Amino acid sequence: MLHILVLHGPNLNLLGTREPTVYGEATLAEINDMLMELGKELGVSVETRQSNIEGELVTWIQQAPSQFQGLVFNPAAYTHTSIALRDAVTGVGLPMVEVHLSNIHRRESFRRRSYLASVSLGQISGFGPQSYSLGLRALVHTLHDKA
Ligand code: DQA
Repeated sequence: MLHILVLHGPNLNLLGTREPTVYGEATLAEINDMLMELGKELGVSVETRQSNIEGELVTWIQQAPSQFQGLVFNPAAYTHTSIALRDAVTGVGLPMVEVHLSNIHRRESFRRRSYLASVSLGQISGFGPQSYSLGLRALVHTLHDKA
């Protein structure tokens, strides 16, 4: 069975009350529940974690290959700043799909640059909580294709 890690970056713990016109009204707990259900449907195990701390995300990515075969990652604001997270992903070679609730390409110009996109299998951006489910489906599909 495939084991998939879903990582949420900074401020995503505030979902539900954080800028609902941009990020919607679903809470992080609701998104995580939806992903656990989808995991069952796809026959994979899903673990979800959130951190506001860049170094904690780096450590989780470094540790992930001993337990997980792939990563669904919303790096949130670190998308646009973090070479450390990019290096962690390339450093361990874990297949990763980058996801965003909002469409980062139609917002402020500083959100258009992603340090993670070019080391991801692909980026899904703009579909609200569905970005995560599409990302999980795409990751599982790709990992099954490789197997
Ligand atoms: C986000 C987009 C980022 O630009 C922003 O900093 C976030 C959330 C999204 O899911 O739309 O915190 O990653």
